[in-house]
Amino acid sequence: MDMLEPDLRKEEREWADYTNCPIVPGIKPGFPRNCMKVYLNGQWVEEQDARISFDDRGFLFGDGVYEVVHIYSHRFFEWNRHMVRLRRSLKAIDLPGIDLEAIGRAGEQLLESFDGQEGALYLEITRGAHPRSHPFPSADVLPTILMWIRPIAPLDPQWIEKGVSVITVADDRWAKVWIKTICLLPNVLAKEKAHKMGMFDAIFVRDGMVTESTSANVFIIYQGRLQTAPVSNYILPGITREVILEIAHENGIPVVLEPFSVDDMLNASEVFLTGTTTEVLPVTQVNGQVIGQEAGAVSRLLLRELKKRANTVS
Ligand SMILES: Cc1ncc(COP(=O)(O)O)c(C=O)c1O
Repeated sequence: MDMLEPDLRKEEREWADYTNCPIVPGIKPGFPRNCMKVYLNGQWVEEQDARISFDDRGFLFGDGVYEVVHIYSHRFFEWNRHMVRLRRSLKAIDLPGIDLEAIGRAGEQLLESFDGQEGALYLEITRGAHPRSHPFPSADVLPTILMWIRPIAPLDPQWIEKGVSVITVADDRWAKVWIKTICLLPNVLAKEKAHKMGMFDAIFVRDGMVTESTSANVFIIYQGRLQTAPVSNYILPGITREVILEIAHENGIPVVLEPFSVDDMLNASEVFLTGTTTEVLPVTQVNGQVIGQEAGAVSRLLLRELKKRANTVS
């Protein structure tokens, strides 16, 4: 008999029996510790028990949106900004009625049960399960809400120090890239192309102008100024991008929010990617052309300041 059992509340015991997971007194009912917890439609289930219908519109149509939130020092980084963007994405795909406060509470509970200091929360919301048919299902079909936290594999220190190599590819994505939709096939194909060529990532180019990479925004240091593409329907407005722009401002780094060409990027003194899990990642080769031998001074400063902020602010 578990020594802790006399202290357990009834619901906790029931949950422990149900999930067959060890639990710790004081943890809210429904929170078995030491198991990979997945939040699925208001239930807490073990990873292997999380089931989604083959009729789910996320699976059939890519009809859904998502967010990824970085956890530093066991706290969500920029949770509110992620929720603002999620609300925008939900509105853009006309998926109303999602209680973001409840999602916040569930996220906090997931975080409580997460053992590590650093990780990422993945949240996906789809238009729910209904026999396949293009029009929206009736309003009584509930959305699917799925959320989990996993530790993040740290970026290779060599990449941070020496930078990564990328290729450029045509940006043949749709014209609503600003929505954080789960339809990521063009991104996946471009990333795979880069990997097959032994490169870290692919940078999208539309009409000669750099938009972003497959999963990050792109910055350059060009003519002494920090430059990135302005917010438009052709980029995802990255949360990290926003934070980096704030840090640049605080540090007196001049910023230009204007589109830049592949040639500008090739002639830049520094190129780097930003993203929730990418953080600030220097790029030192583009299409085989060398930008620098190692991470540049501005990239280093911005990464250092991002980490500082991430480990002190939630
Ligand atoms: C296409 C794309 N651009 C930019 C980003 C960076 O956004 P964030 O900084 O919010 O992670 C991502 C992140 O997933 C992305 O997928």
